[in-house]
Amino acid sequence: MLNFEINNPTHIIFGKDQLDKLPAYISKFYPGKKILLAYGGGSIEKTGLLERVKAQLNDFELVLFPGIEANPQFTTLMKAAELIRRENIGFILAVGGGSVIDGVKFISGAVNYQGDPWDVLLRKPGCVFGDALPFGTILTIPATGSEANSGAVISRSEIHEKRTMGGPQFFPKFSFLDPTVVATLPKRQVANGIVDAYMHTLEQYLTFPTDNLLQERQAEAILSTLIEIAPAVYENPANYTAAANLMWCAIHALNGNLRCGVPTDWATHMIGHELTAFFGIDHARTLAIIAPRLYEALFDKKKEKLVQYGKRVWQLSGDETAIAQEAIAKTEAFFQSLGMETRISAYTDEFAGIERKIRQRFEERSWKLGEHKDLGYDEVERIVKAAI
Ligand code: NZQ
Ligand code: ZN
Repeated sequence: MLNFEINNPTHIIFGKDQLDKLPAYISKFYPGKKILLAYGGGSIEKTGLLERVKAQLNDFELVLFPGIEANPQFTTLMKAAELIRRENIGFILAVGGGSVIDGVKFISGAVNYQGDPWDVLLRKPGCVFGDALPFGTILTIPATGSEANSGAVISRSEIHEKRTMGGPQFFPKFSFLDPTVVATLPKRQVANGIVDAYMHTLEQYLTFPTDNLLQERQAEAILSTLIEIAPAVYENPANYTAAANLMWCAIHALNGNLRCGVPTDWATHMIGHELTAFFGIDHARTLAIIAPRLYEALFDKKKEKLVQYGKRVWQLSGDETAIAQEAIAKTEAFFQSLGMETRISAYTDEFAGIERKIRQRFEERSWKLGEHKDLGYDEVERIVKAAI
């Protein structure tokens, strides 16, 4: 087993009808009264969640910041940071999905950063966020795990960029996870949530067999549970039991646990982010596009684990090469059963040359990805071309 350290300080409040605990949790981490309530494009206004949250916060002075986009935009977030400085606000409450929560992580770091925060996202030498403003979250879509991790992904559409950031100061202080929020999600977002959680698990599992037997089984448990509950929650997001299991799976898929003592891949995510940067394709859909083609391209390196995955998660038996191939096919079919297209050309007509553009970016950034840190630029180009 590889050495590791883990510390996840986010306090989780899971279940329905718990919002009355919100004021106490905010006060635990912030002695003041002025807070920024950050949210997205208006779903929480329509569902009534905004009113329910506000009703709990009569003792606080709320400054609202709506309009954080799906794939949160640098320029929008910089306005929030400016507002916080101007209004002297000491705590942020993020009410939304991965985009709002990621956006709030960035804002919380950018507020006190001297210099251009974009430099941090570009990872320029010496450019790092220091202390972050404390923040808590009320999750509205189970997908990213951002509600209990310290990473974020920030977009800058005007220059077709999507960049990652993170650090221990970016764990939410608390997160409210109420599965009833899933009921109002469009099917497209339910599918996105299932696939994102599934792929977070595969990124930390589909590498090569390891001697961390518990982690192997925990990953397989998440994958199997997602397969089990996916049809129910996709068909009826108001199914509380299915929604609760999706929410619990999604958090476990990326709260740091699965990476303990094992190699991780993440190449599908890094290539996928470029597809969002260039074409605006939903994050989870980029993963459904890239993963099957990446597993085919790296078949020999991943074969042993594909066999284990095929046997334990998909209950396949017989010839090992056939099991590994079938495991990839089953994975793609699972994504498609949730209404997902798994080719770039299904989302855009502007795909000409995309494989070279992504290759060039990876080369410029000197990225070495995959569990062996040896994913070649030729391979990246081949994977993207095969995904068109
Ligand atoms: O903006 P509003 O109006 O709120 O609508 C949102 C948005 O349009 C809507 N929605 C959310 N909750 C809803 C709802 N509609 C009805 N009822 C509800 N209860 O859903 C749409 C998508 O929301 P978004 O927050 O963008 O979805 P998701 O949670 O999938 O987040 C995606 C973002 O997270 C990043 C992705 O790259 C992407 O930018 N990721 C963050 C990660 C992390 N921090 O650990 C890891 C992931 O791999 C991922 O990269
Ligand atoms: Zn993801």
